[in-house]
Amino acid sequence: MNVIEVQNLKKHYPVRKPFKALKHVKALDGVSFSVPTKKTLGIVGESGCGKSTLAKTLMRLEVPTDGSVSLSGTDFTNMTGKDFHSAIQMIFQDPYNSINPRKKAWQLIAEPLLINTDLSKDECFKIACETMKKVGLRPELAHRYPHMFSGGQRQRIGIARALVMQPKVMILDEPVSALDVSIQAQVLNLLMKLQDDMDLTYLFISHDLHVVKHISDEILVMYLGKVVEYGARDKVFDDPKHPYTKALVASSPSILKEASDEPAIQGELPSPLNPPSGCAFHKRCPMATERCSKETPELTEKFGRKVACFEV
Ligand SMILES: Nc1ncnc2c1ncn2[C@@H]1O[C@H](COP(=O)(O)OP(=O)(O)O)[C@@H](O)[C@H]1O
Ligand SMILES: [Mg+2]
Repeated sequence: MNVIEVQNLKKHYPVRKPFKALKHVKALDGVSFSVPTKKTLGIVGESGCGKSTLAKTLMRLEVPTDGSVSLSGTDFTNMTGKDFHSAIQMIFQDPYNSINPRKKAWQLIAEPLLINTDLSKDECFKIACETMKKVGLRPELAHRYPHMFSGGQRQRIGIARALVMQPKVMILDEPVSALDVSIQAQVLNLLMKLQDDMDLTYLFISHDLHVVKHISDEILVMYLGKVVEYGARDKVFDDPKHPYTKALVASSPSILKEASDEPAIQGELPSPLNPPSGCAFHKRCPMATERCSKETPELTEKFGRKVACFEV
């Protein structure tokens, strides 16, 4: 069974500029995917393509403009706070700014329990200490404040905080991007161990294809709020079909087995307020034809994965 199923999810932000008509940024524009239990979906794409908006919308921090999300078969809009928070949790990118500096480690970790359950303070403290052990932090540090921890340790506090509700799904939005390279591998290994131990399902968002490839079972490639390619990790990364995925993979040479002749991505990400007509990628695409500037390709099954391109 799919623990998370997302259908045609949209988030359009109204943007009003002086003396100009109201416009909308289509930060998410019809995204669909599903993830079976204990698997990891890697979500990739350039900065500004809608990854964090997807995370925030799934966490009910933003109200979707359209579409649906179900968690283990239940529509997420119908869930109580407690049910929702024990179905899905999120780990944020920046361990320095995402945690309250005036709270002790155990209070930060126990906060979801204090808010969502009737457990006593003592019970919450005990669970927080047990969870610290699970993420490789000594429980003796429970009374310390965040500034006394390193970046990697703070991210472990963030992970512990997400784990106390025993969620099924965890959204990891660039969870290691703010950390030193030497620490990244330790945190990634911890995440993989926790996934095994606690049967977690991950949505792993990252612009670093090397990290995503290491941890993911399937890959979703986003471009300006839409999915352009979606399928098994080895298919998408070793044999990419969408010209955008090809360019992403080519510009991340570490994951290629051989050097590639493919050009890196030309040009800049267009303004999401004025996206190009037709396929949003056509102005940067080496394969674009006239049709691509007029019609928008649908995501369709091709070569054992889904691709949104007329030319493959
Ligand atoms: N609250 C908001 N109001 C208006 N536009 C927003 C808002 N949040 C994000 N956006 C826009 O939505 C697009 C996607 O942003 P984001 O989801 O942060 O991308 P990513 O995480 O992939 O870098 C960007 O163009 C961004 O400027
Ligand atoms: Mg982001």
